[in-house]
Amino acid sequence: MSKQDSHFFNNFSVVLGILAAVTIGLFVFARSTGVSHQLEQVTTDPRYLESVSTRLQPVARVAVAGQDNSALKIEAAGPPSAAAALPADGTAAYEAGCVACHGAGIAGAPKAGDKAAWGPRIAQGKDTLYTHAINGYTGKNGMMPAKGGQASWPDDLIKQAVDHIVDLSK
Ligand code: HEC
Repeated sequence: MSKQDSHFFNNFSVVLGILAAVTIGLFVFARSTGVSHQLEQVTTDPRYLESVSTRLQPVARVAVAGQDNSALKIEAAGPPSAAAALPADGTAAYEAGCVACHGAGIAGAPKAGDKAAWGPRIAQGKDTLYTHAINGYTGKNGMMPAKGGQASWPDDLIKQAVDHIVDLSK
């Protein structure tokens, strides 16, 4: 090895050493900031806290004779009953079951609020509108499905929804 070569290797080793030291320094710095900031963020995350509290739920609860066990009452499981899911009034029924077609005039449905489209229909009389909405029918624009597809809804609710559409379109 020439003198020049050994000189080069010496310098090069020093450079490598410095780079290694910088790397270790950065690593230590990252760890120390991580410990103080990241750990705190992770352990105060609401999703983390929620998962901890779910895991801390007791696997079983025991009713004790002679004590207030009302907190152990078994809640009815399963989907809410059909009655509970019914819209409260004609407006809600319209929003839930009719707006899909009548809102924007989809599939040939006369658009609620469109006076020109509803004028002649309203002129038929409400009874016809009710019957058509409840039983469904096929007109020249397309098919109005019975009850707009909400088979479980009572006729009265459909009538209220029709009233609402008519009110919007007068
Ligand atoms: C899948 C789309 C669709 C849904 C959902 C729908 N309709 Fe209709 N409806 C139609 C179409 C299409 C017509 C027009 C049929 C024709 O006259 O050609 C119509 C027409 C009507 C008419 C006019 C009847 C007549 O004699 O002119 C009424 C009233 C009506 N719908 C009420 C309702 C009510 C109330 C609901 C919600 C419970 C509802 N519709 C949901 C598509 C729909």
